[in-house]
This record gives sequence, structure tokens and C-alpha cells, in this order.
Amino acid sequence: MNAISKIASGDRYARCIETSKRVRWDIDADVIRGRHFDTAHKFLPDGLSLADALTTLSADEKRFVSRIQGRTYANMFGLVERFINAKVLELSHDHWFGDQVALEALVRFSDEELKHQALFRRIDAMIGEVLPDGYRFDVDPNVVAHAVLGKSTWAVLGLTLDIELFTQVHYRQSIDPDTELSELFKDVFLYHWREESQHAILDELEWVRHDAGLTAEKRDRAVDEFIELVAAVDGILQVQARADAGYFAATCGREVDGAEARAIEAVFLKAYRWQYIHSGAQHPQFGKVLSGLISQTQGQRIQAALATLQ
Ligand SMILES: [Fe+2]
Ligand SMILES: [Fe+2]
Repeated sequence: MNAISKIASGDRYARCIETSKRVRWDIDADVIRGRHFDTAHKFLPDGLSLADALTTLSADEKRFVSRIQGRTYANMFGLVERFINAKVLELSHDHWFGDQVALEALVRFSDEELKHQALFRRIDAMIGEVLPDGYRFDVDPNVVAHAVLGKSTWAVLGLTLDIELFTQVHYRQSIDPDTELSELFKDVFLYHWREESQHAILDELEWVRHDAGLTAEKRDRAVDEFIELVAAVDGILQVQARADAGYFAATCGREVDGAEARAIEAVFLKAYRWQYIHSGAQHPQFGKVLSGLISQTQGQRIQAALATLQ
């Protein structure tokens, strides 16, 4: 890294701390505020749930689908934030006896991610109180974190930037005018994004910093590992789409035949791939940062892998 870009990134770490202090929120006092979920509402906006693609479902049933996906949203973030936080703590090592501003920015990042996990545990439990019994999310965040952290830091930071950029896309979709959308869930999107936007900047800074120390061979291997991580996320999404579509069929109060069940599962999977992979991978900032680190052929390898997940 040259002297000018070092100063520029030093300034960005400092600005992240400043914004982090200004936007900081509390789970109860700011987000939940004594409210409860109401089953008259949607939890995820249509642009994320893709509920309109479920052409055989009534309007009521589509709202139910958005509530199931809302619960999975809470569980998915609880899952990914476990490995993100562990990686951030690991990266903070590099700054222990160096840049104390960068260290503070990462410590705040970690503290916020612990709070977000606590928020999403609360949201999961609160949704559990208003949805029928039988919902399952069987993926253990610690098992996934161990598997993810077995890959190179470059690959983990790539996946992390994808995730932290898509919280911005999700927030934007949640503010589309829709009176059926839960005000409480809208606040979850809003408050989460307010802290995530600093995380996305720090991911980029750490990714570029880490990348500068890699050999071409190591980076090329890391591109493959990034593709493997995305495929592993997709494996989780496939299992959860099946579980959630099955839960819908079992609790929607009417008979769902085999063909309809398969069609519903396909929409759940498409929605989850959009929510947890493509909405971040297609974010212009993701493309910009990634293309600054890799060759055109490596970019094509990633694009080809993403294209198989449609
Ligand atoms: Fe978060
Ligand atoms: Fe984050």
C-alpha cells in the first residue's frame, strides 16, 4: 500500500468510528420499543420474499410466506454474524500493536455484531410466539462458523462484504410504500443497516489490506474458496427452502398437492438466493471492490459459479 492510500484508508477507519458512535442504537429502547409482531402484517417486503411469484396462493397466504421468511431472516443473520464476528476479531490481531484507530473500528464492529445476534435471537423468539408450531431452523451457527473459518481470509472477507452490502439492498426494499409491512420489522431493517454500512466499509478496507500481502497463486486459490463458500451458503438455502415450504404446506390450513408444493419450494429457494447471495453480489460496490483485486478470468470464474444459482 502506498503512503497516500494508507492515509486515505486511515481516515476511513476514523470516519467509521465517528459514524458508529453517532448511529449507535439499543435493542429495546430503539428497535423493539415494547412492540409485538402482528400476524396481519408481512415481515419481509415483496421485493425480498418474491411472494408475488406464488401464483396459486391467496393474498393471506402470501403474507404468511413473508412471515415464515422473516423468521428465517432472523436465523440466517444469527448464523452469518457468528463467523463474521470471529473473523473480525481474528483480523483485529493485525492491528494490536499498530494502527489503534483501525483496531478501535474493528472492536466496535465486533461489539455491534454481537448485539445484532442478540437482536435476531429476540426477533426469532418473538416471531415464534405468533407463528404456528413446527418451524425448523436446524443449522448450527458454530458448526458453520468453523467450516467457513477453515477457508482463507480473502474468501471469507469476500463473502462478508457480499452479506454486509445486501443489508443495504434489503433496507431500501423495506422502505417501498407498503402499508401491510410490519413497522417493527421495518425498524429491524433500518437499524441493522445503519450499523452495517460501516461494516461494509471496514470489510472493504480489510479485504484490500489483506489482499496486498497475497501472492498471485494464493489469491487464485482464494477465488476458488470464495466460490466454495457461496456454494456452501447455497446448500444451507436449499435445505431451508425445503423446510420452510414444507412448514407452509403443513400449517396453511388447506391441502397442498405435490406439484404445488414443488412450485412453492422453488420460489422459496429463488427468494433465498436473491436475499442471501445475489442482492449483495450484484451490488455495484461489490463488483467494484472485487474487480480491483482479481483478473478478468478470475471474475469470469466467479460469474459462472453465480450463474448456476438461479
Ligand atoms: Fe449485523
Ligand atoms: Fe455486520
